[in-house]
Amino acid sequence: MAFPQTRLRRLRRTAGLRDLVRETELSAARLVLPLFVSSSAQASEPIPSMPGVERLPIGAAVGQAREAAALGLGGVLLFGIPEDKDDEGSGAWDEEGVVQLATRAIKEAEPALPVITDVCLCEYTSHGHCGVLAADGSVDNDASLELLARTATSQARAGADVVAPSDMMDGRVGTIRAELDAEGLSHVPIVAYSAKFASAFYGPFRDAADSAPAFGDRRGYQMDPPNLHEALREVALDVDEGADVVMVKPALPYLDVIARVKQRFELPLAAYHVSGEYAMLKTAARAGVLDERAAALEALTAIRRAGADIIITYYAKDAARWLQS
Ligand code: PBG
Repeated sequence: MAFPQTRLRRLRRTAGLRDLVRETELSAARLVLPLFVSSSAQASEPIPSMPGVERLPIGAAVGQAREAAALGLGGVLLFGIPEDKDDEGSGAWDEEGVVQLATRAIKEAEPALPVITDVCLCEYTSHGHCGVLAADGSVDNDASLELLARTATSQARAGADVVAPSDMMDGRVGTIRAELDAEGLSHVPIVAYSAKFASAFYGPFRDAADSAPAFGDRRGYQMDPPNLHEALREVALDVDEGADVVMVKPALPYLDVIARVKQRFELPLAAYHVSGEYAMLKTAARAGVLDERAAALEALTAIRRAGADIIITYYAKDAARWLQS
């Protein structure tokens, strides 16, 4: 039956009818709030390129975690900004490192709130790359694996509920899984940043985490943005290596990748609505050219509609509040 018998506007006529037939739900429980925890910050420090986001001393990070729990968010994702950096990034697996300390403090204050920790070396290395360097200056894949596994294990020992490797070294999921299992941490799941693209949208994050590479770029290990089939191969490999959740990152410019991963694989899928996506919305809203609330909720809903079960977003707290009101 076609028009005039069929009229799709019938189910759009009132807010109640629209609510009744809505296909995609956005809820606080699906949103994860990233936190930048700094070992040198005395007080919360605003990040100019990300209005509303701050570098936090541990006490303030605990405060944010309490707010996240009160708003019903799905969890927090911790990034560490250490005081000292070195060639290997040894601060990443320091038992008294900033993420380890913050994890213990948050788990003590909010035991039920899932704490996810970022497993990567870029915030801890003096050169800013995500692994250790070979003699020729390239990132040495296999030499980095053991350091990443050590990092994940120390975070899990500190109480992290989930570890999330974002380095894009080949084989890291399997190496981390084996190390966690060997250390009696077989209950700790891995969220793999499986399809992480070498994106211009990470710019503000690198200001926030002080993790821009000192030379070169990340195109030798993060994915080439035009590649969809390669993203599916990355996901398949991570699934084989034992990933519990896979991720596509960034989110909005890669909705097609999210949709394809969701169709092909049965495990939970996360998408990272990254710093540049957040900064674009904030900047446009501040310039008065977008309605921030409507635009941010529309963006997050689109990411869910594409197939993401979990969204990591700097808008998590705002979105939770907007969804309540
Ligand atoms: C690397 C990491 C990055 C982000 C998350 N983990 C930056 C990068 O790869 O350069 C970016 C997140 C964002 O832009 O919000 N540890």
